Amino acid sequence: MTADDLTRPVQEAADALRQRLGDSPARVGIILGTGLGKLVDEIEVQDSIRYDEIPSMPLSTVESHVGRLIYGTLRGVPVLAMQGRFHLYEGYSAHEITRPVRVLAALGVETLLISNAAGGMNPLFQRADLMLLTDHINLQGVNPLTGPNVDEWGPRFPDMSEPYDEDLRQSAEAAALKRGVKLQQGVYVAVEGPNLETRAEYRFLRTIGADAVGMSTVPEVIVAKHMGLRCMAISVITDECFPDALEPVSIADVLTAAAEAEPRLTQIMGDVVETLA
Ligand code: HPA
Repeated sequence: MTADDLTRPVQEAADALRQRLGDSPARVGIILGTGLGKLVDEIEVQDSIRYDEIPSMPLSTVESHVGRLIYGTLRGVPVLAMQGRFHLYEGYSAHEITRPVRVLAALGVETLLISNAAGGMNPLFQRADLMLLTDHINLQGVNPLTGPNVDEWGPRFPDMSEPYDEDLRQSAEAAALKRGVKLQQGVYVAVEGPNLETRAEYRFLRTIGADAVGMSTVPEVIVAKHMGLRCMAISVITDECFPDALEPVSIADVLTAAAEAEPRLTQIMGDVVETLA
């Protein structure tokens, strides 16, 4: 793999989007993961671009993830929102799943807001709670920064002492307090998936210091930090992963819990975006 293999697809996508959108004033990027699909309804949409219209863009293969890039304003703030993200379990590489983050940064995005669905392992967490990520553990076995480092993108050995921006976290906390929404905080561990974990695995993941487990977000945050973006991420706790009282979980259960939490998550994300005006 050469540096050109990494930069060319990003440039192709960014060039095509610049042609279509002009010079985007959006400095805020949003990855609408599970539980945040409805935030789109609050965006005053100027353009909605299907991923298959964007060169070099992977395509979403998961039914619950629509594949569109939305350009518009949310509470008066210009945003670029990815409706649908990519996961390792779809068979894409760590570089491919994070390419959209590179593209957003190339278009001028400086702040990245992310949502995801996660299993709650902290015994104080309940199904449909929200959890603000304070930190993460990458247990996916791959890293989107392997291969040649593109120095214009960022350093070879990026710092990870604060993956989730302190100011953005405070904004989220303030929003939750104002709205009377319970906002848990904790460490998210990313696994490859697609199967959910065994009891032994949940016990292990809890022991190493994680509060919630999911299959996304960490690669995106690593790439965003590599490029100097500020990040905030919130998980919807879609299932309770307590090893000694584990119940079988279906994807339908996960989506039901996500839908239940969606209005609260939408409010908090909207409030945080508003602070970025
Ligand atoms: N494990 C991994 N990913 C998940 C889970 C889980 O229990 N729930 C939602 N996403």
